[in-house]
Amino acid sequence: MLPSETENLWTISAGDLSIQFVTDENQRLIQRLFSGFQAEEANGQPAFPGAGNGWVFEPAVDIIHADGNASLDLRVAGVEQAENLTCFTLRDDQYELTLDIFFKALPQLKVIETWTQVSHKEASAIRVQALASASFDLGSDELYITQFCGDWANEANMVEEKLTPGIKVLDSKLGVRAHQFRAPWIIVSKGTLKEHEGSVLAGSLAWSGSYKFSFEKLPEGSIRVIAGINPFGSTYVLEPGEIFETPKMVWAYGNRGVAEVSQNLHNYVRRNVLRDGHRLRNTLLNNWEATFFDFDEAKIVSLFQGAKDLGMELFLLDDGWFGQKFPRDSDTQGLGDWQTDSAKLPNGIRALSTKAKEKGLKFGLWFEPEMVNPKSKLFEDHPDWAIQQPKRELELQRNQLTLDLSNPEVQEFTFSILDNALTENPEIVYVKWDCNRYLTQPGSVYLSKEKQSHLQIDYVRALYKIMERVAMKHPGVEIMMCSGGGGRVDYGALRYAHEVWPSDMTDPVRRIFIQWGFSYFIPAIAMAAHVTRWGERPLKFCFDVAMSGRLGMDADVDSLSEGEKDFARKAIATYKGIREVVQFGELHRLESPYEGARSALMYTHEGRAVVFAYATEGNTAGPLKLKGLVPSHTYTVKEINLAGEDKLLSSFTGDQLMTLGLPISEMTQFVSHVFELVG
Ligand code: GLA
Repeated sequence: MLPSETENLWTISAGDLSIQFVTDENQRLIQRLFSGFQAEEANGQPAFPGAGNGWVFEPAVDIIHADGNASLDLRVAGVEQAENLTCFTLRDDQYELTLDIFFKALPQLKVIETWTQVSHKEASAIRVQALASASFDLGSDELYITQFCGDWANEANMVEEKLTPGIKVLDSKLGVRAHQFRAPWIIVSKGTLKEHEGSVLAGSLAWSGSYKFSFEKLPEGSIRVIAGINPFGSTYVLEPGEIFETPKMVWAYGNRGVAEVSQNLHNYVRRNVLRDGHRLRNTLLNNWEATFFDFDEAKIVSLFQGAKDLGMELFLLDDGWFGQKFPRDSDTQGLGDWQTDSAKLPNGIRALSTKAKEKGLKFGLWFEPEMVNPKSKLFEDHPDWAIQQPKRELELQRNQLTLDLSNPEVQEFTFSILDNALTENPEIVYVKWDCNRYLTQPGSVYLSKEKQSHLQIDYVRALYKIMERVAMKHPGVEIMMCSGGGGRVDYGALRYAHEVWPSDMTDPVRRIFIQWGFSYFIPAIAMAAHVTRWGERPLKFCFDVAMSGRLGMDADVDSLSEGEKDFARKAIATYKGIREVVQFGELHRLESPYEGARSALMYTHEGRAVVFAYATEGNTAGPLKLKGLVPSHTYTVKEINLAGEDKLLSSFTGDQLMTLGLPISEMTQFVSHVFELVG
């Protein structure tokens, strides 16, 4: 018997999304509605199924009590709804164990955050084997999931599939970052995913470690999604009185396709996640692909001159500036020794950053503060600080190991790397925070043998504390989150950052696909996109692709021809003129690179619009239908970012541009266009 609508019915809503819960006659929490997916009827399943007491499918929570009993009997003991926060408190009375399930609705942003926490007063520690951040019944219609997968330099490929009976797990087990093979987010759609049609649910875990999303189509047909930290190798020993809280799962739902859903997520990220999301980002020159490890002060200073000549605002000095006993001349040594390499930079970072300032450039510096090369002074002094397992040969990735952030001494050291550098060099206003490996041997010399399985969780929690301390103490310093490219693009790390480096792949042809994938969850303001010579594509094509994100360059500007320099100078000035539209605007995906030789996207902001069109293959022609315009307004369209003068095309109404399209002549491979519309 389910209670009547008026009593014991709780609704959580934001935007098009409404989720409703009721209790049954045994006070068990039951979900009875999930907009677009589950109709208004409860199927009798527990809303947050626990393992071991009747539930034989994937559990949302799995706990072993102090006495060894591996089951839960959770009943609603209280519900609090205040403003937009709802908390269901569930208790297992036989065990004095409490589970709180939180829902925070952000109606203005059309997003819901969910998370949970567990605590107990048992005689001794319990073992939390799994605790999800969310568990929902998504009804029994045909559902598709779209994941964003790949590998280093090949991130965020979109793969869609239909859910069939059984369980589909999308996860990562990387420990110190969420992503290399799969981004920590997912889209569920009723029918195949469409931009402007259909029920779409997007979810993203704010966690920079191992995660797990499972979709189980149960025998009677309904699909349950469970999302949270990956329980794999992460049992948590919880003492009486301690609280285990999960990271937030962020959900956005829409019943008119995915376009609106990603716009809502972009607003949410700009306002509630990113640091300084309301502030325009700088253009920058990075030296990585220009010099790799091979540079000296004279070379960097000459790049300052080049950056300034082109109109760049910031210079980012990448890897290779440190290491004394083990100079960082390659990726084989030096990580951990954050003293300037005096052979390369005899006058130190201070002198260099002052020179940048004298040239009128802001200065940024690369760090990889969680890592150590065995060939380093740090490893010689503290071999026990590296994550490792007894009796196993150290497994290196990129010749390096990860520092054990579960150890407070190591936390202090890691914080001090950034803190010392930023305190001693007040001219550093930008940091690229890298993390170039994941865990393969998760063992800690510091943690007791009972708590080895805490490592992956304690690591990420400690990392966030360090990032938070850095942000609090150095609020003016902008952070780029990098991790061998896009390994830390999750909403957890982004809370401490200004942007992400989506991929080490900078060939613009591949970047079009990668940026397209990221565009579902990451707004352009946070998407660093640099012009490089990778692939040797036409310079205009490179700029046109990079200008749809946060524009930078990563090339030896000294070696550009005068003609290329002129083009770059003009393009950077053009970008400064449109960056408000790109960085603050609403994204409209027009033509997918997955579907044809031409792809296109545009941004609209306060009566202005900027359109980008790229031919990745063969010859393409035909009008380009625009979106997001006011039908009755007349827009003047001009083509910008040309080698010569901007080209005034014509005036069209918004309606014409959206229904008939913008006439575009045939585009051959690597031809691209940028159009600006003023209303
Ligand atoms: C990683 C980053 C690159 C660069 C190198 C430096 O691969 O993704 O952008 O910073 O490290 O070693």
